[in-house]
Amino acid sequence: MKKTLKDTSSPSKAHRAIYPGTFDPITNGHVDLITRALSIFDEVIILIAHSSKNPIFTQEERKDLIQGCFKKDPRIKVEKVEGLLADYAKKMKVNVILRGLRAISDFEYEFQMATMNKRLHPGLETFFLMASENNFFVNSTLVKEVISHGGDISTLVPPHVEKALKEKLC
Ligand code: COA
Repeated sequence: MKKTLKDTSSPSKAHRAIYPGTFDPITNGHVDLITRALSIFDEVIILIAHSSKNPIFTQEERKDLIQGCFKKDPRIKVEKVEGLLADYAKKMKVNVILRGLRAISDFEYEFQMATMNKRLHPGLETFFLMASENNFFVNSTLVKEVISHGGDISTLVPPHVEKALKEKLC
């Protein structure tokens, strides 16, 4: 008997994804990933999550810098969370975590996080997008290091982020 594929998606249900990170600060790499994700998801929740890093910007400052990249795009929400990402996703009823992959070296860490998140919340899927070739070498730590030694980061972060970094580090 011929099997037919059944469309189980509900047309009224908005497809949302959570994009978690430290964002200390947001870079053009993150902006590129979020912009591309908006062609796949109806809404992206950028979640400033707790990590073991020691950020130079407060959570509130990081939130402002992120919001400054997207103006008032209603498809983007910027939130903060103190606890577990899996618990936040459960509470918000969002089943997709969005992450970027820049190089093979990212894979092991991402694989561990995706697996742990699934263990904590079995309905949670992690969706990966490859970083674009312009940004695959960018990360927040390198950006901070380059600017603190007087290097040019104008192609790596949006102008308002560059200004904030200069005020903080120069
Ligand atoms: N382009 C360029 N750079 C990118 C990028 C992209 N598309 N995607 C990530 N990066 C960079 C970031 O700038 C960052 O650089 P840095 O290490 O120099 O700061 C690095 O890649 C990875 O950072 P980010 O994507 O912000 O993730 P993270 O590893 O800092 O975040 C959390 C980890 C916050 C998602 C994780 O710790 C978490 O979920 N915390 C909540 C608590 C929890 O649930 N813990 C259990 C997790 S299983």
